[in-house]
Amino acid sequence: MIKYNEKNRTIKLDTPDTSYVLGIRDGGFLLNLYYGRRLPDDNLWSLSKRLESASFSPCDPEYTDFSTDVAPMEYPVNGRGDFRVSALSVRNSDGNTVTDLRYVSHRIFSGKPDMPGLPHLYVSNGSQCDTLEITMRDSYTGLEAVLVYSVFNDCNVISKHVRLTNTSDSVLKLERALSSCIDLPSMDYNLITLWGRHAKERQFEKRPLAHGLQGIHSKRGSSSHSHNPFAALVGRDVTETNGDVYGFNLIYSGNFTFTAEVDHNASVRIVTGIDPTDFGWVLEPSESFTTPEAVHVFSCEGLGGMSRTFHRCYQEHLIRGRWKNEKRPLLINSWEAAYFDFDTDKLISFAERAKELGIEMLVMDDGWFGKRNDDTNSLGDWFVNEKKLDLGRLVDSVHAMGLKFGIWYEPEMISPDSELYRAHPDWCVHVPGREPSIARQQYVLDVSRADVRENVFGQIKNVLSRYPIDYVKWDFNRNLSEAGSALLSKDRGGEFFHRFVLGTYELQNRLVTEFPDILLENCSGGGGRFDAGMLYYSPQIWTSDNTDPVERLNIQFGTSLCYPASVMGAHVSACERTDYRTKGDVALWGTFGYELDPNKLTSEERETVKEQVKEYHKYYDLIRNGNLYRLICPWDNPFVCAWSFVSTDKREALVTLVRMRKEENTLLHLKLQGLDENTVYTVEETGERYSGALLMYAGLEMTGCAYNDGESLKLHLIAD
Ligand code: GLA
Repeated sequence: MIKYNEKNRTIKLDTPDTSYVLGIRDGGFLLNLYYGRRLPDDNLWSLSKRLESASFSPCDPEYTDFSTDVAPMEYPVNGRGDFRVSALSVRNSDGNTVTDLRYVSHRIFSGKPDMPGLPHLYVSNGSQCDTLEITMRDSYTGLEAVLVYSVFNDCNVISKHVRLTNTSDSVLKLERALSSCIDLPSMDYNLITLWGRHAKERQFEKRPLAHGLQGIHSKRGSSSHSHNPFAALVGRDVTETNGDVYGFNLIYSGNFTFTAEVDHNASVRIVTGIDPTDFGWVLEPSESFTTPEAVHVFSCEGLGGMSRTFHRCYQEHLIRGRWKNEKRPLLINSWEAAYFDFDTDKLISFAERAKELGIEMLVMDDGWFGKRNDDTNSLGDWFVNEKKLDLGRLVDSVHAMGLKFGIWYEPEMISPDSELYRAHPDWCVHVPGREPSIARQQYVLDVSRADVRENVFGQIKNVLSRYPIDYVKWDFNRNLSEAGSALLSKDRGGEFFHRFVLGTYELQNRLVTEFPDILLENCSGGGGRFDAGMLYYSPQIWTSDNTDPVERLNIQFGTSLCYPASVMGAHVSACERTDYRTKGDVALWGTFGYELDPNKLTSEERETVKEQVKEYHKYYDLIRNGNLYRLICPWDNPFVCAWSFVSTDKREALVTLVRMRKEENTLLHLKLQGLDENTVYTVEETGERYSGALLMYAGLEMTGCAYNDGESLKLHLIAD
């Protein structure tokens, strides 16, 4: 719900449990007065009292009691006396970046506007959404900014983005065009972010805020392994269950920034959007630019409350298409089983063994196209390597067994040794006069160009139309360097990175529109493009190339801060760190599948796999639709971790505990969360009965359970 109070000139946006209050100050300054727990509608004027402490601004003699450098500015600009990090910087035709945006008007309406070409939250059937659009204007330069906010009736989320339009007769150049800014009147927070690298993605990191700038960004051309486009500001005493948390996520797959600045008044500002490094956008008269959408969650129920809000929101309002709700097939992927070394019969044998185990889909990974038998060639040549493979016979045989069939692509890449590169050397990402750097033996294909997209999509379409393929894994295995396009004029070089991302989005949108039954899974050297932008096109993303179940725990716990179980690609591999039971228990958290040669399983392992397949079906709904509770996190305890899924009606729960490292003589009482305290639950494995209250407040005595390195244990609780 969104309400305008004419008397106070405040606009209040409410989600079920949170409020966000904007104030329009004399002179048309737009201020962010409050974000936090839900407030009643009356007495909002008192929030403006915060401003009375704002000091005289030498920049603005007309408003002697008001300083943009102290006030909580909703969309801060450059050059107007606010010296903190800005959300917008525009170079005008006079050559300076002084900008002064003032409120012009607003409108409130039901529904949510489309954001053509960009992934965004949408209003799903049965839910309601209200939108606020505030028009701001710089009367000197003619820049118009429409700030767009949406709130949903079924989750505590506020989304924001900005539409910038040049209403003047001269050219304006955007040098920084961020999606969102929040000012909070205290620096008493920790900043949580997710750093990583290949095979070690989304590692939890917490640091106290300090004066000055701090934050994360990517300038790699993708959201990247290094940092995820997620950040949270949390009170100093926040736990999984208690305390105030502000969570921020950007629905974007390219260069991004999250920057927090603590100023001289010990207030904090956090801004997010496209990373300004290497960004620039020319706005000709009457042209517009739309920023990506930022998602904001406030929870007073600790990190767990924030995560469950993101999860529910993304499941309902971001993921689309047939596979949003339809049960996904349990897959086996050929990569770790065969790498490039396969032929038709080998893959058919994988499918035969997999079928015996109850697996439902075979995915043929890298190595089926061009002349590719290693990673030195053929990216861009998306036609079947007929010397190696009879794809028709393979797909038909797999389908005849009752299994589905999937295939791997890396559409935004081109090998120097490829027919495509020989025909179109200027189609690779490059700048004049410089040799493009090679990484993983490949260049990047310039998908900012419509002709290039047409070619690569045409090739993909040929294969997908000819063979009945059920699943596509879309990979992206290097960063962008020497980033430029042969088609972009010199003054538009700064547009390249964003145009590249828009090109990717267009390609993925075409794929899911023209082949709506295909299940798309994104991937990027493991989990290097694991972001909300990708989730708009693919309902699942490969989380990491690291399939070691103990290493995976840090990765999956970190990923779960923002992203639901239903999107986390997680497979059991032949990794020898633990036995199959633990590998299965960890992979069950995600989409679940296998990444191994099924011919090499021992008969005992085969029986374990069959049991796991049964468990996958048994717990599918609980894990996909239930609520996640992180019970013991690896960042708090290096020895043991535990998590649970609880059904939304609290009638059922699955608790999993993994001993990462044995610790002698330590007691373990595991306190559960999210149950109904007045309900009695039976533990299916032992027959023991406990009240929800006992399980949550006293905890289960688990000392000595799953005691050795890498052991795991599951408990299935069922309400009376
Ligand atoms: C990336 C992916 C792997 C696999 C290989 C194939 O590394 O993360 O799963 O698909 O590419 O080259």
